[in-house]
Amino acid sequence: MTAQVIDGKAFAAGLRTRVAAGVARLKAEHGITPGLAVVLVGEDPASQVYVRNKGEQTRAAGMNSFEFKLPADASEQELLERVAALNADPAVNGILVQLPLPRHMDAAKVIDLIDPAKDVDGFHVVNAGKLAVGAEGLVPCTPLGCLMLVKDRLGGNLAGLNAVVIGRSNIVGKPMAHLLLKESCTVTIAHSKTRDLPALARSADILVAAVGIPQLVKGDWVKPGATVIDVGINRVPKLDGSGTRLVGDVDYASAAEVAGHITPVPGGVGPMTIACLLANCLTAACAQAG
Ligand code: GUN
Repeated sequence: MTAQVIDGKAFAAGLRTRVAAGVARLKAEHGITPGLAVVLVGEDPASQVYVRNKGEQTRAAGMNSFEFKLPADASEQELLERVAALNADPAVNGILVQLPLPRHMDAAKVIDLIDPAKDVDGFHVVNAGKLAVGAEGLVPCTPLGCLMLVKDRLGGNLAGLNAVVIGRSNIVGKPMAHLLLKESCTVTIAHSKTRDLPALARSADILVAAVGIPQLVKGDWVKPGATVIDVGINRVPKLDGSGTRLVGDVDYASAAEVAGHITPVPGGVGPMTIACLLANCLTAACAQAG
């Protein structure tokens, strides 16, 4: 079998169009333009690219984009004061503090200060807790995007399917598992201490890889016909030694021979993250409008 490729780039473009239509309606009917604030601390090149892309796509969707840059040696107190000011600003509906933060800052403390109603990353414990108990809240963007891709491919009803999530991060693995559980999947979270990971992975109808280990998941870890979602973005040296290339946590060539549906890297899950961020900002703005 050769898997059907899940085109996340195209799906994300469609989602951004739907968000833009929702933004236009909110403006026309309530006179509200959603605003997204992104705070970047330091000069990390990958983070700078993310933040630039977020700003461009936010404006393209018709929303206001506010960007705040703090130097790498800014104090944690300065960042906390910036977050407090954004919490109080009615023009700001969504707040995102770009991670990772410099080592002298406590990310949990910073995220804790963000108003949960403006927490478009869905990282605040209030939103994590709401997801865990099945209540409405803001959901982390990457797992939300993964779920949209899976539901689009499998016709919406995931009840009873075996889902294995490799990775237990607060940003992807745990919220992904909760989202799949809400869809009535039978969910297992695997991690670095899991015994016989290949056998467990082979039990999955839906296999999500989010561990940050390049090409960990091989074709013989995949159940024939399974839906494979690759969250990994790993930069590895090219085989011919000329620079680097991006690979996922899945060994795409061998997995695509066995899977039913598979996301590529790049062009799979990646573009969904910012599209879902915009969707979350619109959701937050609508909720704040009452
Ligand atoms: N750094 C890389 N991805 C993300 C993200 O989705 N949110 C935040 N806040 N930081 C990131």
